[in-house]
Amino acid sequence: MNIENGSYHFSGGVNALDVVKDYGCPLYIYDSAVIKQKYDQLVNAFDGVDLKVHYACKALTNINVLRYIKNLGAGLDAVSIQEVKLALKAGFAADQIMYTPNCVGINEILEAVELRVKINIDNISILEQFGQLRPDYPVCIRVNPHIMAGANAKTSVGHIDSKFGISVYQLPLVQRIVKATNMKVNGLHMHTGSGIMDAEVFLNGAEILFRATAGFEELEFLDFGSGFKVSYKEGDIETDIEELGKKISIRFKDFCEEYGRKLTLVFEPGKFLVSEAGYFLVKTNVVKQTTSTIFAGVDSGLNHLIRPMFYDAHHEIVNVTNPEGKSRIYNVVGYICETDTFGINRRISEISEGDILAFKNAGAYCWMMSSNYNSRYRPAEVMILDGKAHLIRRRESFEDILNNQVEINSLNKESNLLSAPEMKSGKDGGLLGGLKKIKETISL
Ligand SMILES: Cc1ncc(COP(=O)(O)O)c(C=O)c1O
Repeated sequence: MNIENGSYHFSGGVNALDVVKDYGCPLYIYDSAVIKQKYDQLVNAFDGVDLKVHYACKALTNINVLRYIKNLGAGLDAVSIQEVKLALKAGFAADQIMYTPNCVGINEILEAVELRVKINIDNISILEQFGQLRPDYPVCIRVNPHIMAGANAKTSVGHIDSKFGISVYQLPLVQRIVKATNMKVNGLHMHTGSGIMDAEVFLNGAEILFRATAGFEELEFLDFGSGFKVSYKEGDIETDIEELGKKISIRFKDFCEEYGRKLTLVFEPGKFLVSEAGYFLVKTNVVKQTTSTIFAGVDSGLNHLIRPMFYDAHHEIVNVTNPEGKSRIYNVVGYICETDTFGINRRISEISEGDILAFKNAGAYCWMMSSNYNSRYRPAEVMILDGKAHLIRRRESFEDILNNQVEINSLNKESNLLSAPEMKSGKDGGLLGGLKKIKETISL
């Protein structure tokens, strides 16, 4: 989103305020051109290796985003059976999908086998069960390399105390199980954390994975996970993708020679592909001057964007309505019933009530972590594609809040608005039938 002729625009000249006029606030907007630019940057950084990029779709699973990324040529990394099903619905071929669950039961893994996707196993107990039940179906092993990496303890997942992966020290046991059950291991995988700045961390991890291949003779791929650091504000250090691609390519080619077979090299970025493509637009409800602070209170909260409160994440905030005004210092806060801070002491062009603010880096782990807390609706989503804004998810409505609730009729006897017979499912349409009645009685 850049300022052109005094107002913010997305790719193809789409004016940000026009999108808000059409679809309202709060609103997530994803610029597809940015996703393509990031995908191309990653793919072009590698040379002479069989690279596969699997999009870690936990970052953002809107089906249109999945289809867009599939059309760029990517495969997909899924962590739940629901993500697998979404990916298949989006058109990914089963063999392009890697299913990497953690702490799920064997039944979910067997369901994924029925869907013919690639299976990644990250604990010994499941490996043993799988080997008994489906020794015919090849699996990948998620290795815990015991590396402390990543920007935040909550997303640092490759260290010795982490619940993820099978310890490198337990690989002899893995091999005994594989041999005893006649399983086939087609890949090794690791993922150490998110927000890794230094390319050397990936290279050190790669060496551990190379060593872990000893004794696995039928490997087809090595998957190095993700964790590429993106920029959240001016001056932020990012992973140097070009340096990483160059160095890993050279080392991977050498390794394949040592191993005696050409393997596929897999990375599975989430944040890198979609973080910077996303913007979250909100309306300023109140500007509140206290004795010490100016608060800008917006029509959203941690229910829609939890990363600042959950990870202390920094999201740049700009005033879309007044892009080039004189700046002042604000605390930008949400409307939730507890401390709900998006940003402290932010220098932003002067904010008036009604102004539209935009949070940057809102593509990854933002809408996906949103909730109905305080019984608020989750926001709509829009994708900028080919110079046009497309609505890709409707804003929720009051019906959505009630949708899966099941009413106990006897609790409703006293209500003079909703009598028990009206609330019975059937001809009156259950709870939503009751809702219709409410609407007729009062204007919502
Ligand atoms: C197994 C695995 N792969 C890939 C990713 C994507 O990481 P990032 O969004 O940092 O690229 C994650 C993130 O949690 C993950 O757990």
